[in-house]
Amino acid sequence: MTDSLTRQSEYWNRQAEDFHRIYSRDKPWLSGLLDRVFRRDMYERFAFAMAASEPVTGRTFLDVGCGSGVYALELARRGAAQVTGLDIAEEMLRLCRQAAAAENLDGRCAFAHSDLLEFGPDALFDVTLGIGLFDYIADPGPVLRRMRAITRDRVILSFPRLGTWRAPVRRLRLSLRGCEVHFYTRRRVERLLADARLHVHTLERVGKLYCVVATLAAAAD
Ligand SMILES: C[S@@+](CC[C@H](N)C(=O)[O-])C[C@H]1O[C@@H](n2cnc3c(N)ncnc32)[C@H](O)[C@@H]1O
Repeated sequence: MTDSLTRQSEYWNRQAEDFHRIYSRDKPWLSGLLDRVFRRDMYERFAFAMAASEPVTGRTFLDVGCGSGVYALELARRGAAQVTGLDIAEEMLRLCRQAAAAENLDGRCAFAHSDLLEFGPDALFDVTLGIGLFDYIADPGPVLRRMRAITRDRVILSFPRLGTWRAPVRRLRLSLRGCEVHFYTRRRVERLLADARLHVHTLERVGKLYCVVATLAAAAD
């Protein structure tokens, strides 16, 4: 791993439990309220990604930067044939495996400690997700091209928007904790996708994010 990936993985190992708590209903009233106000787009991007993943039943998914496994597990619950979660933080993967075993979903979920660029799957995935990932990727081009190379149908992505009030606050807060964060304009997202030969199906502004569905084949007119 490069120094920058090592720093990312150390940061996410420390943050794993706190990050997972954002999705939990079991937390003090005030932190629930703050999450609903300030992190509303995290819940909206989850709804976006689940809708864009349909039909889930019988298909295979790769979740890059799977974190604590919230997306991977939901896809397995919805009937995915197989879900693979990749992450560089072991502590996140421990939470994924624990939750998958508790729900008896471990037969259809596998979690691997790997950077996408080092990952060599045996077969293509129908759908690849990269949600909350590009915030932490200094050079997105190779990652998007790799996603394209190992996906059959579509990729579902999120990118944090440049120019929101939250961007400088987040940049400062995370840099003080040793984690770099990156922001995107719509034009840059479009250019990155085009350079990776991915065709925009949907590019929506969702709160402080852009949420994207891109296909490998251009839509027929
Ligand atoms: C904000 S969390 C998002 C987790 C999950 N996708 C979600 O939205 O709930 C970002 C995750 O990406 C992982 N990550 C960061 N850079 C990565 C990389 N190059 N390859 C794989 N995972 C990475 C981090 O370890 C962290 O778990």
